[in-house]
Amino acid sequence: MATTIIDHPLINHKLTIMRDKNTKSNIFKQNLDEIAMLMVYEVTKDLEVEDIEIETPICPTVGKQLKKPVVLVPILRAGIGLVDGFRQIIPTAKVGHIGMSRNEETLKPEEYYAKFPKDLPDATVIVVDPMLATGGSASATIDCLKKRGAKDIKLVCLVGAPEGVSLIEKEHPDVDLTLAALDAKLNDKGYIVPGLGDAGDRLFGTE
Ligand code: PRP
Ligand code: URA
Repeated sequence: MATTIIDHPLINHKLTIMRDKNTKSNIFKQNLDEIAMLMVYEVTKDLEVEDIEIETPICPTVGKQLKKPVVLVPILRAGIGLVDGFRQIIPTAKVGHIGMSRNEETLKPEEYYAKFPKDLPDATVIVVDPMLATGGSASATIDCLKKRGAKDIKLVCLVGAPEGVSLIEKEHPDVDLTLAALDAKLNDKGYIVPGLGDAGDRLFGTE
């Protein structure tokens, strides 16, 4: 597995806007969309392609096309915020959903919903969630996907904590992890420091 932390001026600029506690929900979502589109380029750079014979207006030639379907899996709720940006760039991607709610006392994830496309075993599955804190929600999601036959899984988060990165590296060494930023630590309530607060609440205005 590889852990990649993207260090890109545009992403860093937009992420700072998202971190600012004075940023309103609509601007938060707009910047999340834009960061998602920028992250797609890095996350998909090793997708397998195959040759395809086509004819240009000038002559026959051999081009490339994606070999496998792509399935996005947002972890509800906040993961939904990354789907639009990814689908702008990969419009053929199917979307599976998994609902995970972190128990505020135990910090353990509780699954409340799951619905996936049938072709998980043949697909590149990209799990998306803005926050990787303890890593529990992402790890449980990957467990669930592996039980349903997914073999090629990537995890994409905006902001990660060292604790979450360690958990994914330990429990899912076969999964590539991409982050826009690696923050310092978790606080005693399990929030990422400095982080951006509760991503779901900020995205959907439920603070
Ligand atoms: C947040 C976030 C992740 C999870 C990260 O979701 O979107 O799914 O917490 O924490 P962890 O790495 O410690 O598991 P939350 O459970 O708050 O649900 P929400 O998206 O509905 O707000
Ligand atoms: N979930 C969030 O939304 N934010 C955090 O900082 C940690 C978990």
